[in-house]
Amino acid sequence: MSNKEEFEKLREQCTQCKKCRLCETRHNVVFGVGISDAEVMFIGEGPGENEDLQGEPFVGRGGKLLDKMLEAIDLDRHKNIYIANIVKCRPPQNRDPAPDEQEECIKWLRAQFKVLRPKIIVCLGRIAAAKIIKPDIKIMKEHGQFFEKGGVLMMPVLHPAALLRNPNNKPAAFEDFLRLQEKIKEICTHTYNQ
Ligand code: URA
Repeated sequence: MSNKEEFEKLREQCTQCKKCRLCETRHNVVFGVGISDAEVMFIGEGPGENEDLQGEPFVGRGGKLLDKMLEAIDLDRHKNIYIANIVKCRPPQNRDPAPDEQEECIKWLRAQFKVLRPKIIVCLGRIAAAKIIKPDIKIMKEHGQFFEKGGVLMMPVLHPAALLRNPNNKPAAFEDFLRLQEKIKEICTHTYNQ
């Protein structure tokens, strides 16, 4: 089966998921967006209101900012990357996803990871970085650094919503994206050559 077919099968299964309480309040499962052979995978925390209504990650104000930052380093959610979240359903009132919800839902993310086998993972914000990179991550101190785990490079970056709240951090966040661009040029084979 091709990556694309495997993703479609997984999406269908995920859309039916009722493994945690978040299924009771969701409008849509937000499975992910991007290309099925992406070398670079972005991982956020969980859907907000707009994402829940539209069924796509990062489509609100934070998402617009993310798209702008991606564009600045020639990345595009429809052309050369993949974007998903730790939890696929919106936590009510945008609360942090509970540990048991994250634990249950991360199985879908692991399945996505197994299909993609990305070379680089970018964690958007503390919650994703704590779950994927290390539980005691200090996001303000360690954003922009690469961590290696099982042959995959992982970089925590500031969450776009945090940048909207605190625009003073935008230049530092942009520097992280430039480092990411350099690393992609160094180790990825087709991200910039589609
Ligand atoms: N914040 C996230 O972490 N993910 C989304 O998809 C939207 C907002």
